[in-house]
Amino acid sequence: MRTGQVFLPLVGMFTAIQASIIPNHSRQNDHCAQIYQLFVQHGNESESLTIPGTLALNCLQDLPFEPKRASSFVKEYRKYVQFESDIEILKNPPSSYQMPPTDLLGGLDKIERKAAAGEYTSQYEFDMDLKLLSVSTYQSHFTLTLCSMSLFIFENPVPLVSISSDGISLPEVYTKEDAVQLKTSKKGLVSPIKTINGQSVADYIQHLPMVHSCQDWDTLYNLNFPSNPVSIALYGAAGEWPGAFSENNQWPGAFHTLGFANGSTTTVETVVSVQAFPYRNSKEMYSGLCIPNNSSSLASTEDETLSPSPSGYPKPFIGSESNYTMGFFPNTSHLEDVGVLAVLSNDPPVAANDIAREFVKQASIHGKKKILIDLSGNGGGDPPAAKNLFRIFFPEIDVYAATRFRSNEAVDLIGQAVRRFPNNATNDLRPFIYKGEVHPDQIHGFSSWKDLYGPHEILGVNSSSLSSSNLSATSIPDDPINGYGAVPANPSKALFAAKDIVMITDGVCASACSIFAALMKQQGVRTIVFGGRPQNGPMQGVGGTRGALGLSLSVYGELFAGYKEAAEKSLNTSTPLLTKEQLARWDQIVPRPLSEFPLVFPNGATNLLNNYGPSDSETPLQFLYEAAECRRFFTLDNYIDQETVWSSAADAMFDGGACVPGSTNATGSLFA
Ligand SMILES: *[C@@H]1O[C@H](CO)[C@@H](O)[C@H](O)[C@H]1NC(C)=O
Ligand SMILES: *[C@@H]1O[C@H](CO)[C@@H](O)[C@H](O)[C@H]1NC(C)=O
Ligand SMILES: *[C@@H]1O[C@H](CO)[C@@H](O)[C@H](O)[C@H]1NC(C)=O
Ligand SMILES: *[C@@H]1O[C@H](CO)[C@@H](O)[C@H](O)[C@H]1NC(C)=O
Ligand SMILES: *[C@@H]1O[C@H](CO)[C@@H](O)[C@H](O)[C@H]1NC(C)=O
Ligand SMILES: *[C@@H]1O[C@H](CO)[C@@H](O)[C@H](O)[C@H]1NC(C)=O
Ligand SMILES: *[C@@H]1O[C@H](CO)[C@@H](O)[C@H](O)[C@H]1NC(C)=O
Ligand SMILES: *[C@@H]1O[C@H](CO)[C@@H](O)[C@H](O)[C@H]1NC(C)=O
Ligand SMILES: *[C@@H]1O[C@H](CO)[C@@H](O)[C@H](O)[C@H]1NC(C)=O
Ligand SMILES: *[C@@H]1O[C@H](CO)[C@@H](O)[C@H](O)[C@H]1NC(C)=O
Ligand SMILES: *[C@@H]1O[C@H](CO)[C@@H](O)[C@H](O)[C@H]1NC(C)=O
Ligand SMILES: *[C@@H]1O[C@H](CO)[C@@H](O)[C@H](O)[C@H]1NC(C)=O
Repeated sequence: MRTGQVFLPLVGMFTAIQASIIPNHSRQNDHCAQIYQLFVQHGNESESLTIPGTLALNCLQDLPFEPKRASSFVKEYRKYVQFESDIEILKNPPSSYQMPPTDLLGGLDKIERKAAAGEYTSQYEFDMDLKLLSVSTYQSHFTLTLCSMSLFIFENPVPLVSISSDGISLPEVYTKEDAVQLKTSKKGLVSPIKTINGQSVADYIQHLPMVHSCQDWDTLYNLNFPSNPVSIALYGAAGEWPGAFSENNQWPGAFHTLGFANGSTTTVETVVSVQAFPYRNSKEMYSGLCIPNNSSSLASTEDETLSPSPSGYPKPFIGSESNYTMGFFPNTSHLEDVGVLAVLSNDPPVAANDIAREFVKQASIHGKKKILIDLSGNGGGDPPAAKNLFRIFFPEIDVYAATRFRSNEAVDLIGQAVRRFPNNATNDLRPFIYKGEVHPDQIHGFSSWKDLYGPHEILGVNSSSLSSSNLSATSIPDDPINGYGAVPANPSKALFAAKDIVMITDGVCASACSIFAALMKQQGVRTIVFGGRPQNGPMQGVGGTRGALGLSLSVYGELFAGYKEAAEKSLNTSTPLLTKEQLARWDQIVPRPLSEFPLVFPNGATNLLNNYGPSDSETPLQFLYEAAECRRFFTLDNYIDQETVWSSAADAMFDGGACVPGSTNATGSLFA
């Protein structure tokens, strides 16, 4: 399974039990035991309990810490980190990179030392240090879910929105509940938020503890607020993303005091809703969540029942079952001759392909002149499907694909172990199968594993040769790329000109979405982006990772173990894949399956492949600043009704409407 997704925490449902009725216990008590007692007192009747955030935090802080287990966990985890494609660049990034530098390996060293010395007071404190290090990469392909962090999500039950009266004037922050009143006769009674905990609201929100890894400040700002596209991308029709201000897996503080423009204030308590709590105390919770083979059978919060209708979107004329790809012919202002394709993820690839193909044909048949491709909320998906979508719009243009992985000793062993795989091997380690990789011209192959592996030192990283998967070999009916390999071109001609196509984003676009956006931009397709910090000026259209492939550690680990087995089996043959010595080395440096870690390791990911544009084969795209061609702020209607986003976009991009001052012709945009 590819992890081309921006990882966001899950939504917990609220219940009737008020945080305030929960009794105050003395600090000497085990706080996890107090939570258990609450469940017992409530007769286990309720589906979930809402408890004060501080109680949950104190329980986490009561978790035991085992120095040996934790330090050997870091040792093992470091082997996975070695696969992150840009470690050395993150430490010393080019000036176009907006985020602060980070020293991943140095950070791991520190954590390992501190763990070994027993300087952590709880598993939670240790997990938070690792989590903060992972977040410091601002790379949504670099993620980490740790054992103590899977149970509680801190909730602040007052979602906020950042809205502009007209999409152009600077936005103000309202509670979502108040914002809705702006459309009623009670309009005069509500006022915007000026301060949170005494700090200016914009400052406060910008400096909230980081929950997301994302390389753009404006996109991070957007992620603090609710979003219909993000909700659908995450939960289908089943759940609502309230924004990171309201839902955080890092401790946001016990209370938020909102100060309104009219001088009034209101204070909101941070709470946690707990679905089930089978642990009698913190020790049991630690054993249950963190010790392998002792994982309790906690009901997963991921089982969700589907409810009808993608919220905030009109009825599509064509759509996939997942609602990830939907086609619309709206009939409102600015949209009469516009077809809209919403792509929230291009999984599953076959459905995405069928719908996109049908969409462009129907748009053409119905005489639509312009196309909006709405990528709002799209955190990625299947990379070949992203290339396919591009080829549906531009069937005659070759896909430019050029990536590198980080060459290291473990990768070298793995590449040798898979060197006899055929060029069409379908498997997630494809980048390491040299027969399946070709130069970006798609004509020249690699003569050997060594030829692909390099290493070439690029921006301080020992990197592989610039390569792409062989698109002809990998394009198959189950995961087609229009006009490549066995898949006939259909459509075979571009039905819309680049100038008549515009991409819409909210900055969230990442991973496979970034691959698609980059290919479209190379053809001159413009982007309009919505939202961002309350300041004039540009915003990037692709604010998520522009890495070409993220792989989940659980998948790597199992595949590596399989290759090791095959190499061991080959030892007795006349053509062994690896020597005995190499296999011994394998045990030391190649990551093992997560199930063999000394602490429960729910999952993580790293960015395996840097992606490059045609004119620069050294700077990975995630280190460039690329402003969209136009930016608008969200209006209240934009939050509620996606069709108004399309209307605003068509106005600005096709009908001469306004963009936020200073947001056009900015650095990295098409017309810079
Ligand atoms: C509740 O506990 C906190 C410390 O956890 C203490 O400061 C506060 O005074 C207590 N309140 C009551 C009503 O006991
Ligand atoms: C001030 O604004 C807040 C937030 O909209 C609102 O709840 C409150 O009723 C207002 N107070 C007055 C006195 O108008
Ligand atoms: C409540 O659940 C806990 C653990 O989930 C269990 O130990 C306890 O017996 C249950 N109590 C009742 C009254 O069902
Ligand atoms: C944990 O469980 C796995 C599979 O159920 C088993 O192979 C392994 O031996 C167990 N380990 C321990 C320490 O019990
Ligand atoms: C597993 O959990 C049980 C019950 O919570 C506990 O008694 C036992 O010691 C735990 N085992 C380990 C290896 O921690
Ligand atoms: C997609 O939307 C339809 C309504 O338009 C709904 O019935 C269906 O449940 C949604 N599918 C998913 C997977 O959420
Ligand atoms: C679009 O709306 C106009 C005016 O309401 C109506 O006359 C026309 O039939 C509509 N077209 C479609 C395709 O729904
Ligand atoms: C790969 O290609 C070979 C020969 O062309 C074919 O026999 C085989 O089925 C293909 N394998 C896959 C996984 O497509
Ligand atoms: C790419 O794959 C196709 C289809 O299997 C094959 O014919 C071609 O030789 C490959 N190209 C290279 C450069 O290996
Ligand atoms: C790159 O690899 C070479 C060996 O191939 C090694 O000598 C060198 O130290 C490596 N450089 C970095 C920056 O890791
Ligand atoms: C290799 O062959 C020897 C002797 O035939 C056998 O004992 C051993 O298990 C084999 N090893 C592997 C990895 O198959
Ligand atoms: C932005 O660039 C375009 C294309 O080069 C040009 O037509 C337009 O005048 C420029 N706008 C501004 C505000 O500079």
